[in-house]
Amino acid sequence: MARYTLHFGDCFEWMEGRADNSIHAIVTDPPYGLKEYSAEEKAKLRNGHGGVWRIPPSFDGCKRSPLPRFTVLTEGDRARLKNFFSEFARRAFRVLVPGGHLFIATNPLLSHLVYLPLMDAGFEKRGEIIRLVKTLRGGDRPKNAHGEFSEVTVMPRSAWEPWGLFRKPCEGRVQDNLRKWKTGGLRRVSADHPFEDVIRSAPTRPEERRIAPHPSLKPQAFMRQIVRAALPLGAGIILDPFMGAGSAIAAALALGYDSIGIENDPEFFKIAEAAVPKLARFDVVPKRAAPRLPQRVNVTSSTLRLPLHL
Ligand SMILES: C[S@@+](CC[C@H](N)C(=O)[O-])C[C@H]1O[C@@H](n2cnc3c(N)ncnc32)[C@H](O)[C@@H]1O
Repeated sequence: MARYTLHFGDCFEWMEGRADNSIHAIVTDPPYGLKEYSAEEKAKLRNGHGGVWRIPPSFDGCKRSPLPRFTVLTEGDRARLKNFFSEFARRAFRVLVPGGHLFIATNPLLSHLVYLPLMDAGFEKRGEIIRLVKTLRGGDRPKNAHGEFSEVTVMPRSAWEPWGLFRKPCEGRVQDNLRKWKTGGLRRVSADHPFEDVIRSAPTRPEERRIAPHPSLKPQAFMRQIVRAALPLGAGIILDPFMGAGSAIAAALALGYDSIGIENDPEFFKIAEAAVPKLARFDVVPKRAAPRLPQRVNVTSSTLRLPLHL
């Protein structure tokens, strides 16, 4: 039976107190705009007006969720962002075992500010996971001049979300590292299907949002695929230091992996405590579309939970 522990508090302090080489993978979605999870901005989000959390205008009839505006970051904000990720990278590097992977959600506008500090701390960049998802970010005509510039879009309508993939260097060869630390590679989807770096996804379903009302909740269908890949032998501990409502921890629980989640906001922490077991039981394959499996195929329970995404 998988075990999970949720800690209320600051993940930087928590990681500071954690033993070296004691986490096997980190899967996380940090506050990469910095501002959006400050006490001031969260109060504005909860009051429903002002701040960086904006409901993008709905020219196309779609109802949109609040999104932080990353284009408002100043030079100072960018410097603070780099510093934030340098501090994070130093601690993450120390607590991960050799060969341990870090999957980190980011944003096409800011990923470079997140990735460089990680590499400076010693992480190897191992690629990027592209979550194909229509985010409804961008794609708008110039503000207050839609008619005049009806054929112009100011920024592309975003249809993907990058997740940086990093690894703490292995001790020796990958096979040696796998034997000693159980890490170094990624778990295959099946014997003839390696883990791939493009994953079709959908926005988080309303049923999941009702279970875990967090503005940045990631969908179980996607989280279970990346969390599963993070432990190549299916053994070890997953850490999410910025767990929000706990989607990574719920994914780990659904897969039978041990995990630790940390959140410093009391309201989000309470949501995570209630949501993790419910999200872990969430059926990611909608009933109507459930694939019929051939009678003679042998599948493990964690394979069965995965949506057929290709
Ligand atoms: C982008 S959200 C993560 C949402 C998560 N992926 C989910 O599906 O619910 C980032 C979270 O990190 C939390 N956070 C920000 N700074 C933190 C810190 N220093 N320690 C722990 N949590 C922090 C925020 O309150 C926020 O809930």
